[in-house]
Amino acid sequence: MTTTDDRLADPVSGPTTEILQLTDVGKSYGNVHALRGVSMTVRQGEITCVLGDNGAGKSTLIKIIAGLHQHSEGVVRVNGEEVSFSSPRESLARGIATVYQDLALVPLMSVWRNFFMGAELRKGPLRSLDTATMKRVANEELLRMGIDIPDLERPVGSLSGGQRQCIAIARAVYFGAKVLILDEPTAALGVKQSGVVLKYVARARDAGLGVVFITHNPHHAYLVGNHFVILNRGRVSLDASRSEIGLDQLTNEMAGGAELEALGHELGSSLAEVEADGDGERALRPS
Ligand SMILES: Nc1ncnc2c1ncn2[C@@H]1O[C@H](COP(=O)(O)OP(=O)(O)OP(=O)(O)O)[C@@H](O)[C@H]1O
Ligand SMILES: [Mg+2]
Repeated sequence: MTTTDDRLADPVSGPTTEILQLTDVGKSYGNVHALRGVSMTVRQGEITCVLGDNGAGKSTLIKIIAGLHQHSEGVVRVNGEEVSFSSPRESLARGIATVYQDLALVPLMSVWRNFFMGAELRKGPLRSLDTATMKRVANEELLRMGIDIPDLERPVGSLSGGQRQCIAIARAVYFGAKVLILDEPTAALGVKQSGVVLKYVARARDAGLGVVFITHNPHHAYLVGNHFVILNRGRVSLDASRSEIGLDQLTNEMAGGAELEALGHELGSSLAEVEADGDGERALRPS
């Protein structure tokens, strides 16, 4: 029997092209060394998941790729060519689209206006907005991704967080992105909506994009990921392909044997148990 999970995780076979490559990338904010010696590869037609705890450096990493920050060490290559973006526009011009948690959609504007935001279609000598074509194309593209929003006149603000993420993903695919970066797209979503968003993340991968999926959640990562990178205090602590690691191991690696303190934070009740065990003092003391 094929479950939804099997379909989502369907691994890409055959050789894939390396589209984005980081070598020994580092970033300091004054005295804070947010990233050190980070190397990773993003391939077309693959989902590369970047996992890590709060403050691990995930957002810093994507800000470098997205052109919001510049790296202080190492080399970033797009299609083999060294780059150092000084603005998000430069990153976008290289085909790198970034969907942030809080999104770049305008809540009060309609779905179709948001779809074409910044790239509006115009017609005639007066270059007036080609509303009819924009509505038609937005509708076709959303349907092609299997996203069913009956009324494209609705303001985006009235849609669910999951639907908004999906529109942003469809837009990136339509405008020909080669790399799609998603910063915690499922963090604020419930189980069902997360599943829907993950489905479109997988579709973007199947459309041939190289996807970078940032998440705290190893379960979400493992549903769709082809490759997993764990950041720990700014360093890569794991870099493994799907065939090299299982979900249990990924979850363990994320928690990190020595990171009980952080884990205990998340699992308040389990922490109490560990302490009751008598061993807690020692186990939880930071090393
Ligand atoms: N603009 C900044 N100025 C100074 N320090 C920063 C800045 N941005 C991030 N940092 C520091 O860099 C480190 C990595 O932060 P980053 O936001 O990249 O982590 P993260 O993995 O995205 O965490 P979270 O899961 O909480 O979003 C942290 O110690 C953070 O305090
Ligand atoms: Mg972050």
